[in-house]
Amino acid sequence: MKVLVTGGCGYIGSHACVALAAAGHEPIVLDNFSNSNPKAVGRIEKLIGRSLVVYQGDIRDRLVLDCIFEQHRIGAVMHFAGLKAVGESVAKPLEYYDNNLSGTLNLLAAMRAAHIYRLIFSSSATVYGDPLTVPISETAQTGATTNPYGTSKHMVESCLRDFSAANPDWSITLLRYFNPIGAHPSGLIGEDPTGIPNNLMPFITQVAIGRRDTLSIFGNDYPTHDGTGVRDYIHVQDLVEGHVAALEERGNVSGLHVYNLGTGNGVSVLDMVAAMNKVLGRELPVRIEPRRAGDIAQCFAEVDKAEKELGWSANHDLMDMVEHSWNWQQRNPNGYQS
Ligand code: NAD
Ligand code: UFG
Repeated sequence: MKVLVTGGCGYIGSHACVALAAAGHEPIVLDNFSNSNPKAVGRIEKLIGRSLVVYQGDIRDRLVLDCIFEQHRIGAVMHFAGLKAVGESVAKPLEYYDNNLSGTLNLLAAMRAAHIYRLIFSSSATVYGDPLTVPISETAQTGATTNPYGTSKHMVESCLRDFSAANPDWSITLLRYFNPIGAHPSGLIGEDPTGIPNNLMPFITQVAIGRRDTLSIFGNDYPTHDGTGVRDYIHVQDLVEGHVAALEERGNVSGLHVYNLGTGNGVSVLDMVAAMNKVLGRELPVRIEPRRAGDIAQCFAEVDKAEKELGWSANHDLMDMVEHSWNWQQRNPNGYQS
């Protein structure tokens, strides 16, 4: 099947293109390169062993979407394009609602006009806010978001729920990611953040490679097993396999489908540092700092639903995630600019 991959040159989208091709599908990419590097195209092509059709354009541009849908018989859309930096979203809410919400609505309208009825949307565990209990199931309350990024994801989920009720012949799948890390084992594609990384893993690998001096650990007084924040880190390879499973298992089942994509395991910041120290064979320099505003103590997924209905579960363990993140960083010390 031809699958339009919006944001297909970004961190997760690039891995999704490779997974789709490996499963016998044909990814077609639309990306405006606002947070990715065109060099990713050649790397993806190397991994899939053929050329990749890429449109440089914006999901908010209806003409581009209509043109793609006219030129290709697209069977489904995997929608990764969007802005994702929590801190930036507080400073630029309009940009986040415009890109993430208006962009998705524009895409949906273009899909409807082209009679394409399968959509897989990149949602986030951020829609759960600060969970009352862990592990978090898909039925947990959503909407108590704490920043415009999270609110934009929740708003898109609400719009898609209403849209699905009015258009019951569509198959719409919301995938709520926990914390994706890792990279393709080849080290050819991976996460390439611009500026100072917000997230733990890219910060750790940049300290390890010598681009940053010290890892700041934000808080060691949380009610967790060692006082540091606990998250559900998932290998990006497992995450994109989850998308292929969702396409194949739910793409022909109409309605709205919601799945957590996580491992179900809680890993603390200190656990992660210990795993990286093991891979490096040396100690990373770390410093305990005050808690980061807006952070929660712990967040990890209940994964039974995806396992039962998609026949999918995460296979990679924490050491795989750390080794592959480090492999990508070593081979590309300055990301795609290397
Ligand atoms: P990313 O920034 O690496 O990739 C997003 C891609 O979309 C980039 O290539 C960017 O250039 C492109 N893009 C952005 N706005 C666009 C637009 N208007 N038109 C066309 N292209 C556009 O991010 P990622 O980590 O790969 O995340 C992919 C999706 O998954 C995002 O929607 C993100 O919110 C969601 N998500 C990510 C995480 C995470 O931790 N990485 C967690 C939960 C959810
Ligand atoms: N942390 C540090 N030092 C750092 C960076 C992070 O100690 O330099 C800690 C955080 O305090 C937290 C943990 O590492 O305890 C994970 O932090 P991340 O920033 O990597 O991930 P978050 O869980 O805070 O946020 C991520 C995405 C959000 C998404 C959220 C829920 O960045 O977009 O998961 O899915 F909303």
